[in-house]
Amino acid sequence: MDINNDCFLVPGPVRMGDECLQALATPVMTARGTEFRDVMARLNSGLRHAFNLAPSEPVRGIQSWAGDDDYKVIVVSGSGTAAMEMVIANRFRSNDLVLVPTNGKFGERVAEMCKRFCNVKHLKYEWGRAFDLYELEQQLERGCYESLLICHNETSTGITQDAAAIAEMCARHNTSFILDGITSVGGTAVHPEEWKAEAVVTGAQKCTAGPSGIAAIAVNSHFIERVHAIREQGDSNPNYYFDMVSALKKGDDDQTPWTPAINLAMGWGAALDVLKVETNEGRWKRCQTMANGVRNLFTDLGFELLADAEQRSDTVTAILYPEGINDAWRTRLKEDFNTQVIGGQDHLKGKMFRVGSMGETPVAEMVEGCKRMIQCFATFNVELPQLDVESYFA
Ligand SMILES: Cc1ncc(COP(=O)(O)O)c(C=O)c1O
Repeated sequence: MDINNDCFLVPGPVRMGDECLQALATPVMTARGTEFRDVMARLNSGLRHAFNLAPSEPVRGIQSWAGDDDYKVIVVSGSGTAAMEMVIANRFRSNDLVLVPTNGKFGERVAEMCKRFCNVKHLKYEWGRAFDLYELEQQLERGCYESLLICHNETSTGITQDAAAIAEMCARHNTSFILDGITSVGGTAVHPEEWKAEAVVTGAQKCTAGPSGIAAIAVNSHFIERVHAIREQGDSNPNYYFDMVSALKKGDDDQTPWTPAINLAMGWGAALDVLKVETNEGRWKRCQTMANGVRNLFTDLGFELLADAEQRSDTVTAILYPEGINDAWRTRLKEDFNTQVIGGQDHLKGKMFRVGSMGETPVAEMVEGCKRMIQCFATFNVELPQLDVESYFA
C-alpha cells in the first residue's frame, strides 16, 4: 500500500464506501412521495438484516420495518445518542427504577441519560473490567428493576459485555433488557430475539459504514405495548421530536413523523446493501480477524491492552502507550504516516490509543496501518521486536 493512501482506523465514524457516497449525492426528492417510501423500505430491510432479525423485502407498502418475528425497526434522524434517548424517554416513567452496569464512557452515558428520565441504580465498574455477573444477579433478585440497560460494546475501553449471560439473567428475573448496540450491530454477533432484548440501538456511522447523523432502533412488541400503556396512563416523560408513539404510527406506512434525513437514509440504505452482500457472518468474521490480529500483534510487541482478556472487542482495541509516549505519537502517525487511530477518553486521555476494526475496512489496510504504527513508534525510539505483521492477519 502506498503511503499516500490513508489508513483510517478509527472506531467510527468510519470511511464510507462508493455505493454509500453515490447514494448520498442523489438529487432531492419529496419527503412524502412514493420515491422516499421506496428509500425507507430499502433502509428498513437493510436494518433488519444488520440487527440480525428475520428478513423483510425492501418493498414499499408491505411493512418492510417488520418481519416474521416480534421486532420492528425505527429510523431516527440524529446520531446514536438521539436514538438511545428516544428509547429511554419513551420506555420509562419518571418513577421507574432501572439497573445500569457500566465499564466505560458510553455505558456511563446511558446511566446519565436514564437519570434524566427515571431512577437509576448505577453499578460503576472500573473502565475495561468485566461486570461482576454475581453482583448483577443479586441486584436482579431484588425484583425492583423495570429494566437492565447496557452498552453492549464499550467503544471507550474495547470491552464487549457477555450479553447472552446477562440476557439469560434478565429473562429469569422477568426484567427487560435494553442494549446500546452502537458499535456492535453489524460488527459483532447480536441476537436480539435470542436475548429477548426489548430494544437495541445502532448508529449508521459505525459498523455499518453509513453516514453520521442517522440511527435506528429495533424494538419488540413488549416495548411497544409499554410505550403505548405509559402514554395512555398520561405518565410519559416530556418529549416531542423523539415521540415514539408518532414514530410507530408513521412507520407502518414507510414514513417518519417529521422531515426525514432523506439523503442520509439513501446513503445508509446503500451501505446496508453492501453489508447484505458480505453477510453478517462475513463481516463479523472480518472484524474479528482484524481485531484478533491487532490484539495478538501488540501483545507480542510488548504492549498492554486495557480490556479484560476474555471479553475483548472485535470492533475496537484499546492499547496502552508504553512509558514516555503520549498523543504526540498519534499526531505524528497522522501527519507523517497518513494513518489515523483515536485516543483515550476522559482519565485515559494521552494514556492509550484505540484501533477501530469495523465497517468496510479491508484487512490489507489494517496490516498496513499496523506497520506504520510500528514505524512511528520507532521514530520515538521505542524499541520493539521484529515481527512478521502479515502473519497476524492470515
Ligand atoms: C458504544 C457507543 N455508544 C454511544 C455512542 C454515541 O453515539 P453518537 O456519537 O452516534 O451519538 C458511541 C459513539 O462513539 C458509542 O461508541
